[in-house]
Amino acid sequence: MFKAEIYKARRAELRRRIGSGLILLPGNSEAPRNYFDNAYAFRQDSNFIYYFGLQQPDLFGILDADSGEELLFGDDCSIDDIIWMGPQPSMVERGSWVGVERTAPLAAAAEVVGKAIRAGRKVHFLMPYRGRTVLQLARLTGIDPLRMVEHLSPELAVAIAAMREVKGPEELEELENAFEVGYAMHTAAMRATREGISERMVAGEMEGITHQLGEGVSFHSIVSQHGETLHNHSHEGILTNGKLLLVDAGGESVNNYCSDHTRTFPVSGKFTDVQKDVYNVVLRAHDRVIEEARPGKYMELHNLALRTLVEGLAGLGLVKGNPDDAFAAGVAGLFMPHGLGHGIGLDVHDCENMGERGLGANFAPIAATGKVDSCIMRSAWMLRPGTVLSDEPGIYFIPALIEQWKAEGKCKEFVAYDKLEKFYDFGGIRIEDDLVITENGCYQIGRDKHIPVTVEEIEAYMAK
Ligand code: GLY
Ligand code: MN
Repeated sequence: MFKAEIYKARRAELRRRIGSGLILLPGNSEAPRNYFDNAYAFRQDSNFIYYFGLQQPDLFGILDADSGEELLFGDDCSIDDIIWMGPQPSMVERGSWVGVERTAPLAAAAEVVGKAIRAGRKVHFLMPYRGRTVLQLARLTGIDPLRMVEHLSPELAVAIAAMREVKGPEELEELENAFEVGYAMHTAAMRATREGISERMVAGEMEGITHQLGEGVSFHSIVSQHGETLHNHSHEGILTNGKLLLVDAGGESVNNYCSDHTRTFPVSGKFTDVQKDVYNVVLRAHDRVIEEARPGKYMELHNLALRTLVEGLAGLGLVKGNPDDAFAAGVAGLFMPHGLGHGIGLDVHDCENMGERGLGANFAPIAATGKVDSCIMRSAWMLRPGTVLSDEPGIYFIPALIEQWKAEGKCKEFVAYDKLEKFYDFGGIRIEDDLVITENGCYQIGRDKHIPVTVEEIEAYMAK
């Protein structure tokens, strides 16, 4: 948790940006796993952490943008709670840690929200992503839970995302702590990798570290020799010499800031010539992004990465013709069918719960379409000093996609389809690091070190 002044200043700024009405900020409850008392590890809502910093379940914050009042709702512990969990700080005490003077039992939130609604005041809330929170907000506001999406507040989404996107010094420090978790994870994965063990063993080795150094993983670890499957969560494969292992994994710092890195390395510890060639094309794209990243349009960086990949693939003979024409024809989509990166902060895809990036005219497909699970494109995202984003280009040989493009004759003058069959069991390569945008450039998170990334660094590290 940070100093109370930080949370007070953030809440004041949010009230100022919203101007009028009530702002509802629900905390998370425990999420049962297979029965009520056996819950997943508790994870507080990231917006609640950002404005109130408190970690226990069943808290609810309300900011009154007109009067400036700030209320924190939650229940003091009962004798039952003390028996099972030990003595707990009171709500008054918890409020004092984060600069909130007025606390009340959770049930009292209904009266405050009800009064505002009866008075015709605007009540701002975001689209809740957990069923229990949907029901809680439905009960407080009287809105049909199935139509909640029609009532969420785009102004609140824009204001919160705009604030969270620009990281303060205390947050950048936390992201460095998250990097330390990520560094320990990825180097442990390289040390653990050897023929004959399962992907599960490598994943377990890394995930144990996230609990030793932080608050667990920042998302499901991807540890797979089938790196061509972008989000492959199976860890069932047995490591085989000659294959590449793709590890996309991150951890949370103790204050819930996230890291997200990908390394792809040979099970044997030595790249083959072909693996090295493809790897170096991806690495060039990753490095070009670091050279060019600065305030401005995210899409320019995305396109720079794609263009660099196309040039490199042309050098390997897998893309034919003029690379500029091949890029313009969209050939990169066959090899890298995903975006270059995403925001990173309290969420590993930071602020994506607030909707599409851009936060202006192109904002909020959630509000416009009611789709809460659409893929975020970030096509209007503007990078500002203090934005943190992942830089994660990749090349994937996805047999089904190649076969589909080939059957459709897609980009046939630019894709050397005859040469691609040899790559059907290659897998995929992704390289990912986390960047902070500065006034006129960027730097890579990692105070005094980076996870081995060049062919030479990886081979040397794995040989140790
Ligand atoms: N690290 C997983 C992702 O970026 O989607
Ligand atoms: Mn990522």
